[in-house]
Amino acid sequence: MERPTPRTIAMVARLLLLCLAAAATSGGLHAHAQLDNNGFISIDCGFPGQTGYVDNKTTLFYTTDAGFIDADAGMNRNISVEFINPPIPTSWHSVRSFPGGTRNCYTLISLVSGQKYLIRGKFLYGNYDGLNRLPIFDLYIGVNFWTTVNIPKADTAVYAEAIMVMLVDSVQVCLMNTESGTPFISGLDLRPLKTKLYPLANETQALVLLHRFNFGPTDGTVIRYPDDPYDRIWFPFVDATDWNEISTEMKVNTDDRLFEPPQAVMQTAISPRNVSRNIEFTLGLDSFPSDHSLGYIYAMYFCELQQLPRNALRQFFIYINGFLGKTATTIAFTPAYLAEGSRYSLEPFPYSQYMVSLVATANSTLPPTISAIELFSAIPTTTLGTNSQDVSAITAIKEMYQVHKNWMGDPCVPKALGWDGLTCSYDVSKPPAITSVNMSFNGLHGAISPNFVNLKDVQYMDLSNNNLTGSIPDALSRLQSLVLLDLSNNKLNGSIPSGLLKKIQDGSLDVRYGNNPSLCTNGNSCQPAKGGSKLAIYIVVPVLVIAVLVLVPILIFLWHRKRKQAADIGTIGVRLASDGDGNSSLRLENRRFTYMELNTITNTFQRVLGQGGFGSVFHGILENGTQVAVKLRSHSSKQGVKQFLAEAQVLTRIHHKNLVSMIGYCKDVDHMALVYEYMPEGTLREHIAGKIGRGLPWRRRLRVALESAQGLEYLHKACNPPIMHMDVKTANILLNARLEAKIADFGLSKAFNWDDGTHISTNTCAGTPGYVDPEYQRTMQPSTKSDVYSFGVVLLELVTGKPAILYNPEPVNIVHWTRQRLARGDIEGVVDMRMQGDHDINAVWKTTDIALMCTEQAPPQRPSMTDVVMQLQECLDLEERRIGDDDEFFTDHGGGGTDPSMSYYAASNESSDVRQSNIAFQIEHNYRIRPQMDTSPAQIR
Ligand SMILES: *[C@@H]1O[C@H](CO)[C@@H](O)[C@H](O)[C@H]1NC(C)=O
Ligand SMILES: *[C@@H]1O[C@H](CO)[C@@H](O)[C@H](O)[C@H]1NC(C)=O
Ligand SMILES: *[C@@H]1O[C@H](CO)[C@@H](O)[C@H](O)[C@H]1NC(C)=O
Repeated sequence: MERPTPRTIAMVARLLLLCLAAAATSGGLHAHAQLDNNGFISIDCGFPGQTGYVDNKTTLFYTTDAGFIDADAGMNRNISVEFINPPIPTSWHSVRSFPGGTRNCYTLISLVSGQKYLIRGKFLYGNYDGLNRLPIFDLYIGVNFWTTVNIPKADTAVYAEAIMVMLVDSVQVCLMNTESGTPFISGLDLRPLKTKLYPLANETQALVLLHRFNFGPTDGTVIRYPDDPYDRIWFPFVDATDWNEISTEMKVNTDDRLFEPPQAVMQTAISPRNVSRNIEFTLGLDSFPSDHSLGYIYAMYFCELQQLPRNALRQFFIYINGFLGKTATTIAFTPAYLAEGSRYSLEPFPYSQYMVSLVATANSTLPPTISAIELFSAIPTTTLGTNSQDVSAITAIKEMYQVHKNWMGDPCVPKALGWDGLTCSYDVSKPPAITSVNMSFNGLHGAISPNFVNLKDVQYMDLSNNNLTGSIPDALSRLQSLVLLDLSNNKLNGSIPSGLLKKIQDGSLDVRYGNNPSLCTNGNSCQPAKGGSKLAIYIVVPVLVIAVLVLVPILIFLWHRKRKQAADIGTIGVRLASDGDGNSSLRLENRRFTYMELNTITNTFQRVLGQGGFGSVFHGILENGTQVAVKLRSHSSKQGVKQFLAEAQVLTRIHHKNLVSMIGYCKDVDHMALVYEYMPEGTLREHIAGKIGRGLPWRRRLRVALESAQGLEYLHKACNPPIMHMDVKTANILLNARLEAKIADFGLSKAFNWDDGTHISTNTCAGTPGYVDPEYQRTMQPSTKSDVYSFGVVLLELVTGKPAILYNPEPVNIVHWTRQRLARGDIEGVVDMRMQGDHDINAVWKTTDIALMCTEQAPPQRPSMTDVVMQLQECLDLEERRIGDDDEFFTDHGGGGTDPSMSYYAASNESSDVRQSNIAFQIEHNYRIRPQMDTSPAQIR
């Protein structure tokens, strides 16, 4: 592929009235402006040449993909001619395919940071490679998973569409080879949206389209630009046997709404042919892999297109999956005359199917109607890419030296695709940063790029064995972290700049510059240095000597220690095996890891998730991509071995959805570790304290309470012998991506000893201050009721949002604090203000009541976990009855006055509690391009 020349740039600009703000910076990628005068980008991937053409149907200008992707990434191909006849639009004729490289990315620039966009990839295989092999591959938006593209048939046009808020002014769309065929792409579209549209697409989640249907048009019309100013593509959905089309020529008022469906879509609708029937249809979901999704989100559009007589009423209920919303009577819906009304999900919900039923109320004289529906999967967009300063610097370096290798996409993320020659740091609290650059033997020509100075975290920089010319920039001395700079074997000239010299002299920087024949290395007298420099020898030799002096004793010491520890472990092993009744011998069915494997999985234990008495917990990724948490016993931990064994034993025996599950363990010579499922949302403690998330809404708190209670009930009731957890607290309740609760940390847990019918008696009191059962503290006799007590404290934390021990300013236990306040009649003062009154007050009081019973002084007065589970279930029912159907609310009615949906949304925004996880959904409008659009009932079952 050729690079764009200035002339073609000018041509494109004239043709499209392009915004040229970002043009003509470097000679490489992004050399021409990308947006047309709608702010659209429409790329016909694989189209030959440098410009493009106007599509006569949409009137949009389709540009070639030159300038959006490295010229040597992938190859242009045409689909097989049998798929072009009868004619299909030009934009489907060519593809760009990517047989090489795991990740290949398009870069769209000149976007507006903070703006909402629709991004759409288009894929028509058309046997372009003559292999008749339908590929499956993944798409990413930047570093966040978008969807899996699974081509079902050679002539099926597959769309992937996402609505997202762009946080920076450019975005990369990457095709990821998953070893199931060669990735390819036919087209890529970008459309700006008003920020208020699709309120559930926000900074942390994007919406991936599954279905977008326009009910009614019997002529097969597909509506898009210019009928839809945002160029959404609305496929027709008709069922002539069951439904009548209703339509109007009159204008439907869609102004100022949350979704702005186009006129043409709102002007058609359906209603049942048989007036006594309801509207019912199912949208397919199950072809979509669901492990990345936070759940589904729908938007339905309604409008009354007929002027009804006075005594007529069209009123209906809207059910999802036959779920008879408990507040159904209050949400019966009557569409307004010629005004769009919509109803959409409040938060993502993980249904397994999507059956929609519109059912007329008893009072209704007319059957239901619907104009359009959209269904999305919500995906998290919270994965952090490399910090933007490093990205700009390394991208500029890449362009200056025309580096190819695998330098595509994000430089550090995902780790497995990090750019060759770069090393990055992955700190939980900030975006990844580049810590070393090794571009030795890369054939680099020209000067040392000033952009190296912008890699602020770089420690090692190896530019040796290239053809670099010019002088050494003194600015390199500003790199605070730099400890090694290797410039040897180049053609540099000038002298070593003073800033670097100073660092060399004070020993903070090792600079190697041997074999640069024109470089002056000796103050002002410029003599070509031969075979390295004296300075280098002066510095390097002492450093080496010191290193040897220091390292040798350390190595000797380590060698001895290792031998000694090997011996220790040997005896521990023996002790374990002979530990009486065989209860404690470690028979683990789970996978056994070696320490080396853990080292790889955790990328040398880089990312710390948390700290405990046991040691640290690290983030890891298994070969198959599963994220795990690795709890590594630290050598300094005294009780570590015992707790490790207790926990490992418990976890191999028990399996419950509300108990964190163990994936494997490591018992190497002197390393012990447990590998668990990864719980990305951290601990309940952090959520209550507001350290992560936006504070949980009351309903989520109740669910978390119920789920944790179920986990404990399982330990107490289903396990034989029963298990006491002994350290129930909010810091030991972890949340997964769907904010489902699982109890963790069984290091202190104990099993009843039924043989002699007594409780275990110990001489140290286990547990965490604030949570420990006072009765157990007194008698040292733990029981399941001790867990009940601790769980009561957890419930109080959920209700009050306060920690187990408050500083008021004297430390006071939350149990006393709550009882005191309630005794004073200060009921309002107990409930967490952050819930902003958005809760069923009866459910809150009932929960508080359960908590107080759990924390009764006398264990027999406390309920069992089974009682607690039942009671909490009732609380949740109360709350859900208040909110209604699980995830929906009703909005945006056509009537005048204030828009209730806006304020409702504003309130619900606070409580939108699902943020993170990873899910993928494929959007596949499974319609065939030829001979005519098959109006998609294929996927409607
Ligand atoms: C694809 O077809 C177009 C038009 O027929 C032609 O100009 C182009 O060279 C073809 N591309 C390839 C890669 O064969
Ligand atoms: C149906 O009509 C009755 C009588 O007018 C009224 O009381 C009732 O609330 C109506 N039901 C609905 C669902 O609107
Ligand atoms: C850079 O890479 C080369 C070869 O790939 C290697 O010999 C050299 O040690 C590396 N430099 C650093 C600083 O790691």
